[in-house]
Amino acid sequence: MTGPHPDLADAPLLRAARGLPASRVPVWFMRQAGRSLPEYRALRGEGSILDAIHDPGLSAEITLQPVRRYGVDAAILYSDIVVPAHAIGFGVDVAPGIGPVVTKPFRSAADLARLRPYEPDVDAPYVSEAVRLAVAELGATPLIGFAGAPFTVASYLIEGRPSRTYGLTKSMMHGEPGLWRELLDRLADMAIASLLAQVGAGASAIQLFDSWVGALPPDVYEELVMPASAKVLTALEATGVPRIHFGVGTGELLTLMGAAGADVVGIDWRVPLDMARDRLPGKAVQGNLDPAVCLAPWDVVADRARDVLRRNAGRPGHIFNLGHGVLPELDPGILAQVVDLVHEEGRAGA
Ligand code: CP3
Repeated sequence: MTGPHPDLADAPLLRAARGLPASRVPVWFMRQAGRSLPEYRALRGEGSILDAIHDPGLSAEITLQPVRRYGVDAAILYSDIVVPAHAIGFGVDVAPGIGPVVTKPFRSAADLARLRPYEPDVDAPYVSEAVRLAVAELGATPLIGFAGAPFTVASYLIEGRPSRTYGLTKSMMHGEPGLWRELLDRLADMAIASLLAQVGAGASAIQLFDSWVGALPPDVYEELVMPASAKVLTALEATGVPRIHFGVGTGELLTLMGAAGADVVGIDWRVPLDMARDRLPGKAVQGNLDPAVCLAPWDVVADRARDVLRRNAGRPGHIFNLGHGVLPELDPGILAQVVDLVHEEGRAGA
């Protein structure tokens, strides 16, 4: 077992995540691995991602593809937020083109019996193995491990499929707050186990995805969601790896998400980056080019990417990213140009 690569401590992503000046503005893209890449489509074949990742060599290879193609400053493990729930046998699958689907959704206290603790080494050893394989190849480029935050995972388990309104989720939250809290607490423990295993296997940063939490107003977030997310982020503190916390539509939640224990808060494209920084004193930020803008001609994309850099105004503690995931129809050539632009024009202090 070899230790971490000696240059990893100076990696721009890890320095920026700690709010320190870096040799360049680091950039990576949520969903950088996936259908927008021809080399991914060539390797992947049909079927659920949950089956594909049983082959750690394949996961590691897909994780590395965008790093090779784009020269991004981080890799993110090819896996999914529902892997732990799937691995304990809750009956979750990922339907291609749709997202997570659950055979028997979580609807009452009786369903707690189906939510046993997650033991990464026993239930999904292929995840840690994929981390080890990818890290061995990545050298001085950090690997970001990740987990789904309790609210977002709960929303899939309760609704049974992607939802627009979160009607069943909100009805449980408000109608059965005791059950809701118990569910979130168990999902927090699941995320903690998963993240600790990934860090143990060599991940040098983590991201907690609360993608759909923007469906909630701040007071409800603070009372019924933040304690569970804070439990996860706090449990990771002792590892010393930077913690990134991200959701979509979270303009009014940003300050609370930072206070939940994140070192870096991910910003979607709706909040101008300078305003986001005002809401997050002392925190690093990640974002926030609109992924849909990347479908426009290069001049437009370049202009919008420069606007993000301008709003950060050279302050340390900025990780460039999209405001959400890469769209599958995106031309990867555009992202390669974005990486070059950020690296050339986004020097700290410029
Ligand atoms: O580059 C990366 O970001 C790769 C790792 C990654 C995946 N899922 C791979 C994946 C990450 C970080 C995720 C997290 C995830 N999964 C989130 C949070 C991030 C976000 O987008 O907000 C959410 C909400 C999910 C749930 C999920 N899984 C959805 C909505 C989908 C899309 C369904 C589809 O086919 O369009 C998935 C499946 C999934 N996860 C794919 C990928 C690359 C799609 C293709 C495949 O099955 O390999």
